[in-house]
Amino acid sequence: MTVRGDPTTGRTTTSWSNGLPASRSQVVDFVGCSYLGLDNHPAIIAGAIEAIEVHRSLQWSHARTRLKFDPLGELEDILSGIFCARVLAFSSCMLANLGAMPILASGQLTGGSKPLVVFDQSAQISLPYHKPVLAAETRVETIGHNDIEALEGLCRDNSVVVYICDGVYSAGGYSPIKELRQLQERYGLFLYIDDSHGISIFGDRGEGFARPQFPHVLGERTIISASLSKGFGASGGVLMLGAAEHEELFRRHSLPYAASMAPNLAAIGAAIASCKIHRSAELGQRQRRLKQRIDLFDRRVATAEQGNSFPIRTIAIGSETNAIAIAKGILDGGFYTSVAVSPPPGMARIRVCITAGHEVRDIERLCDGILQKITETTGKPYPLR
Ligand SMILES: Cc1ncc(COP(=O)(O)O)c(C=O)c1O
Repeated sequence: MTVRGDPTTGRTTTSWSNGLPASRSQVVDFVGCSYLGLDNHPAIIAGAIEAIEVHRSLQWSHARTRLKFDPLGELEDILSGIFCARVLAFSSCMLANLGAMPILASGQLTGGSKPLVVFDQSAQISLPYHKPVLAAETRVETIGHNDIEALEGLCRDNSVVVYICDGVYSAGGYSPIKELRQLQERYGLFLYIDDSHGISIFGDRGEGFARPQFPHVLGERTIISASLSKGFGASGGVLMLGAAEHEELFRRHSLPYAASMAPNLAAIGAAIASCKIHRSAELGQRQRRLKQRIDLFDRRVATAEQGNSFPIRTIAIGSETNAIAIAKGILDGGFYTSVAVSPPPGMARIRVCITAGHEVRDIERLCDGILQKITETTGKPYPLR
């Protein structure tokens, strides 16, 4: 269900059903992942405009291995300080992940030995999409979601293992980083964690969900990737690396780094402006505002995620047809949520992304709408049994 629209203020969007201006209506967006409401922050928009005006260009028409804009180096330096790692910036996290996968399979990050690469079955598609590329080089396995026991078994039976997962999952839930670190210490497990949904919303400077759970020096057996387009409020992606040799390797051999455009100047300017917010008191204020809104939602609608500090909530409906009908009813009432459908059939959920940009009354009205539409559609009160 794609809704065409123009952002207005806060989380409100003017949507055009039928694509016709006459059908315009206001919709409050509970789909987008701008968790801190930074995407339309005036300082970030001004940062993007200023960077283009100062440099009088959007981008250079070649990869940065030839020539790179000064502010890109500045951005990577500032991000390296925030995440306490060697940070490389890309035009998206999808591309950062794409460039990392063949390098992981090559064994260059694991002392020259090709690893067994293990994916969590729920890892975001920008990671498992590359399984065929990895499988051309090395063995690839997929295990159940957060199945630490299965992972430990593979670590016991194989000398070099790389595990690929999300830090915070976009359909709710998170990785057990403490247990993963124990496997790292016990078996030398190499971890590749995509923390796109965790950065900015946790940590004094928005270091994220995953990064603060590792030592001050990230070390040689962990890489964290993240999108700058979600909580961070700008555009682009990053890799956080812990070793100088890894940095050198990625700057030479990551395909999108060496053979595609770097983030453009608008993205760089926006990200530098967002870094300033990340290093100011405003970040904490926005994180607290987000928490208040999550708590408010939890007081009204019970979910499997109730009580955790992540901004994604999923409401179990079961039937796909009912879930779509309920989401459509909620949309007609002015609130845009999405339907999460994953195997096995009959496990459909309504997915809600809560942000600091939502007004309290938006959350209250959304919750009322969810409860009402579920009862109308299923004939039963929520929670459904
Ligand atoms: C976990 C995760 N990683 C990566 C991406 C892609 O990020 P980007 O838009 O920066 O490519 C997404 C987008 O939804 C995501 O959820």
